[in-house]
Amino acid sequence: MSKIVNIGLIGFGTIGAGVIKVLTKKAALLEKKIGVRLLLKKICDLDISRRRDVSVDKNILTKDASWILNDENINIVVELIGGIHPAKEIILRALRSKKHVVTANKALLAEEGEEIFKTAAENGVDVCFEASVGGGIPIIKALREGFVANRIESIYGIINGTSNYILTQMSDKGCDFKSALFAARQKGYAEKNPTLDIDGIDSAHKIAILARMCFNQPICFKDVYVEGIRDIDGSDLQYADELGFAVKLLAVTKCGGPDLQIRVHPALVPKSHLLAHVDGVLNAIFVNADLVGEALFYGQGAGQLPTASAVVSDLVALAGKITTQDHNVCLGIGQDKRHCVIRAIDDIESRYYLRLSALDKPAVLSQISTILGKYGISIHSVIQKGRRRAEAVPIVMMTHEAKGKKLRQALAKIDKLAVVKKKTVAIRVERL
Ligand code: HSE
Repeated sequence: MSKIVNIGLIGFGTIGAGVIKVLTKKAALLEKKIGVRLLLKKICDLDISRRRDVSVDKNILTKDASWILNDENINIVVELIGGIHPAKEIILRALRSKKHVVTANKALLAEEGEEIFKTAAENGVDVCFEASVGGGIPIIKALREGFVANRIESIYGIINGTSNYILTQMSDKGCDFKSALFAARQKGYAEKNPTLDIDGIDSAHKIAILARMCFNQPICFKDVYVEGIRDIDGSDLQYADELGFAVKLLAVTKCGGPDLQIRVHPALVPKSHLLAHVDGVLNAIFVNADLVGEALFYGQGAGQLPTASAVVSDLVALAGKITTQDHNVCLGIGQDKRHCVIRAIDDIESRYYLRLSALDKPAVLSQISTILGKYGISIHSVIQKGRRRAEAVPIVMMTHEAKGKKLRQALAKIDKLAVVKKKTVAIRVERL
């Protein structure tokens, strides 16, 4: 007879229902594959009367998390309520009760990961978080196990499906940001309050988790430089396309020498790179590592069943650890420890795409280029879009490598020129 691993689920929302579906439909297959029965013993949610798209025995439902946390027979607590509180307290209580934890809570891990992982280690249990980054893409397992002998050098991710959908719509349909956001809402991709997605916060949570894992440093959300996609105009996608680039919301982390970079911002990605072709709600994570070189992970970054697939993969990994009593297998944070200093965005060099809105009359370009020159910024190319005598026209410039600080200072001066009529849009050009 198979051994049984008892699971308590806290959070019976869309993903929770997905986990129940998978555990029910795949019970026999999973048991055959791993020789362990994954038994969903109790489910907790504040609302236990709402109808879901999956049916469960009412006797295992509760509104009181303590019913799960105090149950000595429960081996694993799955936390799917999201947010910081009370998820943090629930997870800490579970860990202190020597229960392993599976969570999809990227905000919590990115903001409070230090305390959570420390508590897990102190109690000899694991926190597994495959579902927190990239939905159904098994990036955590790949980095932890598949790449175990590698030194990770950099990660470039398109890890927010909503923003990627919006940028793809703007590019394909030639529409503006507002219409693309509206389309994302209609499709159910964007929340009523889309801030976390479009302002880059969700991507920042996810890249903080990946960086902490790859570089084994206490990196958290506040270490990430974040810019979202609100200021991107349809014309930027069109001009970028003409120049041979796609615009993507990139989450980047790199560790080389004493420096660590961690940032989320829109970026021009050359069309010759695979990431430029990751469209719609799909996610992709591009990894550079010393042994494997380049690797690309691509797939559904959200959704009920892809995310449930990730949660169940954690349950299976933990079930193996519990039933073999193998205390040496660390499923959480790992990899070699680095001692890097996070580099300020001002000190990072990049090429830039600039879209200025300037009067179409003689000597305008010379005023702009004089300021760029003063800050040591060299221009690669300039295109004026259209011709409107004495009216503002878009001027698209590509610069050579420039430090963030220099560009910021130069643009502050340029935007004060009488001939410049709107705030200049600056987008980094990523060298992948
Ligand atoms: N809101 C996220 C996205 C999915 O748009 O990709 C959950 O991480």
